[in-house]
Amino acid sequence: MSIAYLNGSWQPLEEARVSVLDRGFMFGDGVYEVIPVYQGKPFAEDEHLARLATSLKELHIMMPRSEDDWQELFREAIDRGDEDEAILYVQVTRGVAESRSHIYEDSEPTVLITLSPRVTPGLDHKLSVVTKEDFRWARGHIKVISLAANSLAKNEAIAEGYDDAILVRDGKVTEASSSNVFIVKDSVIVTPIADNHLLHGITRAQVIALAKQHDLPFEERDISEDELLAADEVWVTATSIEVWPVHKVNNQWIGNGEVGLVYQKVYNLFQELKCQSN
Ligand code: PDD
Repeated sequence: MSIAYLNGSWQPLEEARVSVLDRGFMFGDGVYEVIPVYQGKPFAEDEHLARLATSLKELHIMMPRSEDDWQELFREAIDRGDEDEAILYVQVTRGVAESRSHIYEDSEPTVLITLSPRVTPGLDHKLSVVTKEDFRWARGHIKVISLAANSLAKNEAIAEGYDDAILVRDGKVTEASSSNVFIVKDSVIVTPIADNHLLHGITRAQVIALAKQHDLPFEERDISEDELLAADEVWVTATSIEVWPVHKVNNQWIGNGEVGLVYQKVYNLFQELKCQSN
């Protein structure tokens, strides 16, 4: 079942409430993490906590809990929610202000943790995506809760009959609306450099580590929109979808439209990694 922890108290998710003066509500002034739970254990917990710390630091928001506290709270969420396969969502905002003002003052951060059952998508559904201009701010590496631009890109893509949008800035692929992008060309796995225009995905890092450990040819470099369209394989990665195949970009088939050999290999390695960590 779903459960929420809000500022020290546990409650049913649908009953959790924050003030309208919370800066997260007023300004989207906060950060978040999405952590997968496999077989009752958080996966890559240290990496997610490290990225949470980086995001908070970038927004000058105080880290409201110690690492031990977070770990303890995650265990409790998993126990209370009683789910083996779940998604932990962590959100920290700058907290409740005295009045609405762009100028922030010291406030106690609002801390929300939710646990919800994981809904595993069926792998038979390959994605059809459309490229769109990346008009987001230039700090995409911070995992901010203000996701209006990402959400707009995804919803516009869906309204146009696609599953998602791959974003392109100055002719180069950055990421998809809620995942990182990989291509394969002539058996070489390529992903854009993790700069300030994209989220430094934990799944992305895991896939890169697997490629290196297993001597799969790999490059981190710019990918032009033309290269994306001419790729043999395209995949997206994120906590919620792990590694997912894209079979069409802008209504054009990628490779022969089937799941690629390199994808299959990386997918299997990722499943092994999940099992090993438990
Ligand atoms: N999305 N890029 C963006 C814009 C994202 O929102 C996400 C994750 C990723 C992949 O990051 P990771 O591998 O650490 O999950 C890349 C999450 C799942 C979400 O917003 O629900």
